[in-house]
Amino acid sequence: VLTFVKEARKAHYATGTASAAHATDPVQPLPEKVDLPAEKVAMGERMFHDKRLSADETLSCASCHDLGKGGCDQARTSKGIGGQFGGINSPTVFNSGANVRQFWDGRAADLVEQAAGPVENPIEMGAKWDDVVAKLNKDAALVAEFGKLYPDGLTKGAVLDCVATFEKSLVTPNSPFDRWLSGDENALDADAKKGYELFVARGCATCHVGESLGGQSFEKMGRAEDYFEARGNPTDADKGLEGFTKKEGDRHKFKVPTLRNVALTFPWFHDGSQTDLAGAVKVMAKCELGTTLSDAEVAQVVKFLESLTGEFRGVPLK
Ligand code: HEC
Ligand code: HEC
Repeated sequence: VLTFVKEARKAHYATGTASAAHATDPVQPLPEKVDLPAEKVAMGERMFHDKRLSADETLSCASCHDLGKGGCDQARTSKGIGGQFGGINSPTVFNSGANVRQFWDGRAADLVEQAAGPVENPIEMGAKWDDVVAKLNKDAALVAEFGKLYPDGLTKGAVLDCVATFEKSLVTPNSPFDRWLSGDENALDADAKKGYELFVARGCATCHVGESLGGQSFEKMGRAEDYFEARGNPTDADKGLEGFTKKEGDRHKFKVPTLRNVALTFPWFHDGSQTDLAGAVKVMAKCELGTTLSDAEVAQVVKFLESLTGEFRGVPLK
């Protein structure tokens, strides 16, 4: 049974510290840091960047989830092994530990289950885990290091565990918006504050909720107004949650994406169809809420969204 509930959030993902004035806001600050075993984070970081995880050693996880590109590839859809393009936009790995499930359609329960997928996906890394593990086990220095961290040494499970542990460390606190929520009145300008007010008042925060502004539920794209008819060219990826649950009622439902660092995770939507953040906001207002925002209001919401760009390891993302 799938329970897409907030309680399923990882326990270590405690809420950051909002000021008293914002204690009950639907959006909360990210924690400044998460408690994780440092050696496993470091090993996971190496594996995340290791091209030996792909069949022809041309791709690592970072090829499609570049930490210098907002944790995604900033492409409409991703280029996998042999130059093949996938059918769906690459989501950011930043703050992915807060997602209630992984993938747009939620088919992976957690980061460990997720990380097993791309290695064997024929249009992503195109490898076999047995081959990858055998190849890595020829690297004596690496084997010795895994031996110190995992009792069974360098296994598929150990690689998945350390990659997932690294991903849990990809938290991006201290955005201007977080500093404002925590009490620094000057961290946002008047437009961004008005944008946040609109974001809450118009109902965006009913779906884009919590410290990630998303990742907590699966919602229909086109809840108020059909999105797909206007766009045309239906694809398999458009099925969303239905592709995983096989229930017709789940058609076009997608995991609500996090809006953390959203200014960097272009192009937007599962189909990568929007290259303009203002355009994405307009589509959301129309298709999800059945409302329109004036151009001035859209610009204010965009200012607010831009204030969600945080820091990784103390350095502002860009
Ligand atoms: C060829 C590009 C590519 C490679 C290589 C790749 N990914 Fe992805 N990743 C994607 C795409 C595209 C999706 C979305 C697929 C979907 O939802 O159906 C995704 C989804 C994810 C998600 C889910 C995020 C969310 O919000 O649901 C995580 C986490 C992730 N990848 C981590 C990894 C890790 C770890 C590796 C290496 C083992 C990896 N990826 C390799 C393209 C890639
Ligand atoms: C009913 C739930 C719901 C509401 C309300 C909602 N959204 Fe969304 N939002 C989603 C879903 C689901 C997606 C992913 C849709 C897709 O990719 O097809 C999304 C995607 C987005 C994206 C693109 C993110 C990305 O990384 O691709 C932005 C930006 C966004 N929403 C902003 C807003 C704003 C601003 C509002 C209010 C005007 C809003 N949303 C209201 C559910 C919602």
